[in-house]
Amino acid sequence: MNSGPLSLQDIERQAKSLIPHNVWDFIEGGSQDMITTHRNTQQYNDIKLRPRPFLQTDEKKLSTTILGHFISMPILLGASGGHTFVHPNGELDTAQAAKDMNTGLALSTSSDYSLQEVAEIGAHPRIFQLYHCGRALTELLVKQAEDSGYAAIMLTVDCPVPSPMEGDLRNQFHKYGGAALGNFKSTKIRRLLPPNTKIVDMWERPPNIPLAFTELEWLKGLTTLPLIVKGIRTAEDATLCMENGVDGLLVSNHGGRQIDTTLSSIETLPEISVAVQGKMELYIDSGIRSGSDILKALALGAKAVFIGRPLFWGLAIGGSMGVRKVLSILRTELDEAMGYSGISSIEHVDAAILSLPKHMKVPRNAAIRKIKDMALLLNQGKITNQVFQSNKAKLLRP
Ligand SMILES: Cc1cc2nc3c(=O)[nH]c(=O)nc-3n(C[C@H](O)[C@H](O)[C@H](O)COP(=O)(O)O)c2cc1C
Repeated sequence: MNSGPLSLQDIERQAKSLIPHNVWDFIEGGSQDMITTHRNTQQYNDIKLRPRPFLQTDEKKLSTTILGHFISMPILLGASGGHTFVHPNGELDTAQAAKDMNTGLALSTSSDYSLQEVAEIGAHPRIFQLYHCGRALTELLVKQAEDSGYAAIMLTVDCPVPSPMEGDLRNQFHKYGGAALGNFKSTKIRRLLPPNTKIVDMWERPPNIPLAFTELEWLKGLTTLPLIVKGIRTAEDATLCMENGVDGLLVSNHGGRQIDTTLSSIETLPEISVAVQGKMELYIDSGIRSGSDILKALALGAKAVFIGRPLFWGLAIGGSMGVRKVLSILRTELDEAMGYSGISSIEHVDAAILSLPKHMKVPRNAAIRKIKDMALLLNQGKITNQVFQSNKAKLLRP
């Protein structure tokens, strides 16, 4: 009998029993009433799969690329600060798990271990998540990321004001851990900080300065690395990013840890997918807890997904082995969901495998692609006109 964890829910339960309650609240917490946090997971459950058992899928291809870099599956570990709260090896073990599973990770500006220390583990592709820290500091961090072989810069834009995390306020939780803010410990960086700045103060008040769109050009000018913007939730902002030379977008609401009562991340993906029309790579995070969730995100236009809280659960139950377990469960579940849906390659997934709740629209480009495929089948006599017309009507339904 298999007594190990079988799902992310099993890992979550086990982790909860091991993590002190105030740290648990910090990790699990969303902002204010956590309406967005709960909606993130709920909406994945409200999207249903349409299984296609007749389609044969003996061989399945899960590998893909992100900005040209190979990953063995469309699942990466997301950027988050404070991994040593749950395991002393923190981001080093997170990176080890990514390396073992042949996938990538995003490293937070607020990581406990420095970007150079994490680079030494050798996971690839590594993406440096950037909080804008003022021009001089930002320039140095970006340069260090480039020198340490990071594959891209990921600018987080969704926290223009401090996050109202009521759980932390209630618990009087101070987010200071032993090795916290590894990226700010070097003398070179410290020289750029205001005099007498203590690391602990920076952790409590992260140096995240909102960046105007007009400054994206400046940021891009600092590096030859591609730029991903994290925290985009509307077609308007996606278009602005596209017009300003951004290379990829991470559709994210920070796991509901910033403004509350917004749409879930997966609900916003279709409008963004339509806005960018395949001209930029799209990724998504927030609320992904199973392989079916991942398949749904890919079907709505994401090229890959990032995992947030579950990596903390994995770290807590067994360091890099625990995170590896999280990733391998998701991989297995994705493989199974593809099998049921008749999908042989993640590159062929589109919205036709989904039954969406009424308020969510099929991205138009995916619908049109599907109609073209069906027209081909109709011409080849493989489906009847009646089937063609009724499916077409379904796909075009507003
Ligand atoms: C404890 C914690 C710390 C985080 N720190 C950061 C951070 O430093 N930078 C960032 O861009 N996002 C940060 N995030 C947000 C994640 O990158 C991601 O957007 C979110 O966790 C995804 O939602 P999920 O947890 O439901 O998977 C953090 C999330 C958590 C849970």
